[in-house]
Amino acid sequence: MSVYDLSVTDALLTTTRAVRKRLDFDRTVPDDVIRECLELTLQAPTGSNRQGWRWIVVTDRGKRERLAEIYRKGAGTYLDQGYESAKAAGEAQDSRVFDSARYLAERLQDAPVHVIPCIRVDHLPENPPRRVWAGLMGSIMPAVWSFQLALRARGLGTVLTTLHLTHEEEAAELLGVPDGIMQVGLLPVAYTLGTDFKPAKRPPLDTILHWNRWDAERDGPGNW
Ligand SMILES: Cc1cc2nc3c(=O)[nH]c(=O)nc-3n(C[C@H](O)[C@H](O)[C@H](O)COP(=O)(O)O)c2cc1C
Repeated sequence: MSVYDLSVTDALLTTTRAVRKRLDFDRTVPDDVIRECLELTLQAPTGSNRQGWRWIVVTDRGKRERLAEIYRKGAGTYLDQGYESAKAAGEAQDSRVFDSARYLAERLQDAPVHVIPCIRVDHLPENPPRRVWAGLMGSIMPAVWSFQLALRARGLGTVLTTLHLTHEEEAAELLGVPDGIMQVGLLPVAYTLGTDFKPAKRPPLDTILHWNRWDAERDGPGNW
């Protein structure tokens, strides 16, 4: 017997999509809803239980406009080129993703709330080894995903984006973020237009699963 209703939990886990074109830019998001979802992230795990996470919520229109400019500058020609080459190669799924990403880049300022998750990095050694990066990202991304799930459960949507980080320092200056705090993304948050999201098409588990040891035949270079 399962502890929770699996039809509900599994639906939440499999239908929490990257939402861009279905963000409702016209509907106000109450501050309390954001607070409630962020409250839930406090239960996410962190390395050594350090809880070095910080969240910046931006609702100020002028600041969202500026963040959107920084985002578009960071994107440069990446999204247009990605779209064109995916289309030329007949990769329908990739071209849909890039098309959707281009739409978001144009409209980012219109998302009523921007949420920037951050993590303290003031304790990091010079040139940290991979273990440290794993610990760092592992101490904020579970909380980010909790936030995304909590939003989805309440009829809101978002997408984790990272393109503004090309000019992270400009966003830091705009928002007064001190040195020693690393931004890890920007989540545009809004109610969704409809709530009927579906599981995405993904390659079968067996193409990426290794059991007891790495199986080079299963996961040859062609799979990357
Ligand atoms: C680390 C990371 C960075 C991402 N950066 C961006 C981004 O800068 N802009 C964007 O539109 N989407 C971004 N995405 C969203 C991905 O494109 C999206 O999660 C992926 O296409 C899967 O979407 P789906 O779950 O709806 O299938 C990012 C996702 C992750 C996990």
